[in-house]
Amino acid sequence: MDFSFTEEQLMLQDVARRIAQDVIAPSAEHFDRNGEFPLDNIRLLGENGLMGIEVPAEYGGAGMDPVSYALAMIEIAAGDAAHSTIMSVNNSLFSAGILKHGTEEQKQTYVRAIAEGREIGAFALTEPQSGSDATSMRCRAVKQADGTFVINGKKSWITSGPVAKYIVLFAVTEPDKGARGITAFIVDTARPGFHRGKTEPKLGIRASATCEIEFADYVAQPADVLGVEGEGFKIAMGVLDSGRIGIASQAIGIARAAYEATIAYAKERKAFGAAIGTFQMTQAKIADMKCKLDASLLLTLRAAWLKGQGKPFSAEAAIAKLTASEAAMWITHQAVQIHGGMGYSKEMPLERYFRDAKITEIYEGTSEIQRLVIARAETGLR
Ligand code: CAA
Ligand code: FAD
Repeated sequence: MDFSFTEEQLMLQDVARRIAQDVIAPSAEHFDRNGEFPLDNIRLLGENGLMGIEVPAEYGGAGMDPVSYALAMIEIAAGDAAHSTIMSVNNSLFSAGILKHGTEEQKQTYVRAIAEGREIGAFALTEPQSGSDATSMRCRAVKQADGTFVINGKKSWITSGPVAKYIVLFAVTEPDKGARGITAFIVDTARPGFHRGKTEPKLGIRASATCEIEFADYVAQPADVLGVEGEGFKIAMGVLDSGRIGIASQAIGIARAAYEATIAYAKERKAFGAAIGTFQMTQAKIADMKCKLDASLLLTLRAAWLKGQGKPFSAEAAIAKLTASEAAMWITHQAVQIHGGMGYSKEMPLERYFRDAKITEIYEGTSEIQRLVIARAETGLR
């Protein structure tokens, strides 16, 4: 077993770390306060190959492996979680499905635009009445005699929905077939029949713009179908397996930032004539934080490595996401506590880390859904 990274992996990690620490982290408080979309920073990530890390060079990407993606996501998330949310949707949820199931033309048109950082992509599965129970979606795509589809319905909580140029959309084409009656489409938001709702006000990742989107007689061409008709749900699930490695990495980045701030504060802050880091109760917290951080990292790298080897990784991605997101919540909670009043203050980033960590337990499948995926894989029971 080899625990070392390749030179290329370390180089990408270094590029991501420099941008995260020099550009993103110093602007994070501003974007969090204003809920503004960080367009210039996102373009900078694109120019540095960070919007298409696993996308082959022939489609405008960096052509690197899933471990590189995990390492880069951790760095960007340590700078600011919201930036890493936008990055994760472009890299995995939008591009991964098209790369695996798309035609050559779809890859050249859509993946290239996102991987080169020229445009922003989104992924629309959730609806107002269906989140975890994704197959109960109602958004309907009705096939016409000429082969086009007329799409009507709503999707909610769409990350980058307010700014996306292209969206991978899931809609029901054959209502009687359940999961096998769902088809994936690539939507161009500039076409008639596409509408954006108001941007959602959120607890955390406030610079990542989220909104409801609506389709009113939107016409999709046959060339807009992604993969095979009726196989959209499998495409969504496969993409989410990869996406969950990204969210696990995001959780690790947030937790690491909180942990590093805590180590510095525990050495510097004094109470009862000693640094608070000398108290055994603080030391126990630091030790537990470190164990959870390392366990999350190793599980995430295992899932990324399996994916890179072309081996099954669905349950391992769920294990990584569940462990890392719950660790991030616990670690940021303890980090606020160790900072005392300053942990609660907006003068320091701890309260932001705490707010941002929470989303990792909710999106791309809640913790309960990760447990369901893991237990089904372990027992074979439904
Ligand atoms: N890969 C490929 N196919 C898969 C799969 C996978 N990982 N998991 C399931 N499938 C297939 C099944 O084999 C089945 O196919 P057949 O009918 O041909 O056998 C089909 O999909 C239906 O599977 P299930 O019967 O298991 O479906 P279910 O209704 O029980 O739901 C679920 C399973 C795991 C709960 C799923 O609905 C799920 O993951 N829900 C959570 C949704 C989610 O994660 N949403 C995230 C939205 S995106 C987002 O949040 C983005 C962001 O934050 C930035
Ligand atoms: P529900 O499914 O209604 O769940 C409510 C509660 O019930 C949860 O605690 C859940 O775990 C629990 N529950 C449900 N089913 C079970 C079960 N079988 N067993 C045990 N407990 C269960 N979606 C997209 O498609 N694209 C995006 O880009 C996107 N971005 C998002 C960004 C943000 C900021 C947020 C908040 C959400 C985003 N989502 C996106 C949606 C997200 O994936 C869903 O919110 C999530 O999957 C949960 O669905 P829900 O909110 O409908 O909760």
